Amino acid sequence: MQPEFLIIHPPPAQYVAHVQLHRPAALNALNLQLMAELRHTLRLLDADDQVRAIVINGDEQAFAAGADIKQMSGKSAIDRYNTDQFSTWDTIRRIKKPLIAAVSGFALGGGCELAMLCDLIVASETARFGQPEIKLGIMPAAGGTQRLTRAVGKALAMEMVLTGRQLSAAEALQAGLINKIVPVALYLQEAIKLAATMATMSPLAVQMDKEAVLKSFDTTLDECLQFEQKNFYLLFATADQQEGMQAFVEKRKPVFKGR
Ligand code: HXC
Repeated sequence: MQPEFLIIHPPPAQYVAHVQLHRPAALNALNLQLMAELRHTLRLLDADDQVRAIVINGDEQAFAAGADIKQMSGKSAIDRYNTDQFSTWDTIRRIKKPLIAAVSGFALGGGCELAMLCDLIVASETARFGQPEIKLGIMPAAGGTQRLTRAVGKALAMEMVLTGRQLSAAEALQAGLINKIVPVALYLQEAIKLAATMATMSPLAVQMDKEAVLKSFDTTLDECLQFEQKNFYLLFATADQQEGMQAFVEKRKPVFKGR
């Protein structure tokens, strides 16, 4: 089946695959269908002998502006629980081949989490990284509180998660969140170049290296992610979540009441 919200480009280099998030009218917001398509596509690429590294980008304006707020708005905690969206994220977490995020423009909320789920991040000069969920009365739920903290440390993670402050590409590089910054015209090309270098290495060594580096996070990550997800579901039981998302849809400032 042809994906609706992804473009699978022809291999840009030997053994390199390139997948583009494609919902430009919504700044590539990650609705459930897009994420399901991404999971399906990455699984196929992971099983394909002709692929050794995978580049994921959005477009120049946005990598992804987060999970789809309009799709989440009005949903209950149990609706969210029944959706079981995190199994999709979990599958992506288990992709064995290296994933390189090529980020230009907004990487916010779930978009920042998807970039952080990748193994390397190449950013354009216009990239913005942030976890603005607090402004909607919710919180990150796809690893944002965990991977961000591990990457940039407690002080900056707290500031970003509790105030929604975005990092420029330069700040993200300085904080250790990303690998490099290049001009907008080159960000995708640079990510493909990195992927192509990895694709010249022993595929098994690359996979086992990736596995071993990720293992360093795993001891407590599973527990932390479950904790994070439980709290995310709980926030859908609050009036503030409904207010935050409704206000976004109505293009007005939210009024939070602490319940
Ligand atoms: C649904 C979104 C969206 C989103 C943007 N759009 N972000 N739709 N979900 N996350 C839509 C807008 O409604 C608008 O559609 C169009 O994209 C263009 O966006 P604008 O707001 O008009 O653009 P701009 O003024 O340039 O502002 C860009 C922006 C802003 C700063 C990125 O769009 C924004 O604040 N977006 C929300 C970011 C966010 O809060 N992300 C976290 C989501 S929660 P229309 O139809 O009006 O033209 C999350 C939880 C993850 O990610 C949980 C785990 C998976």
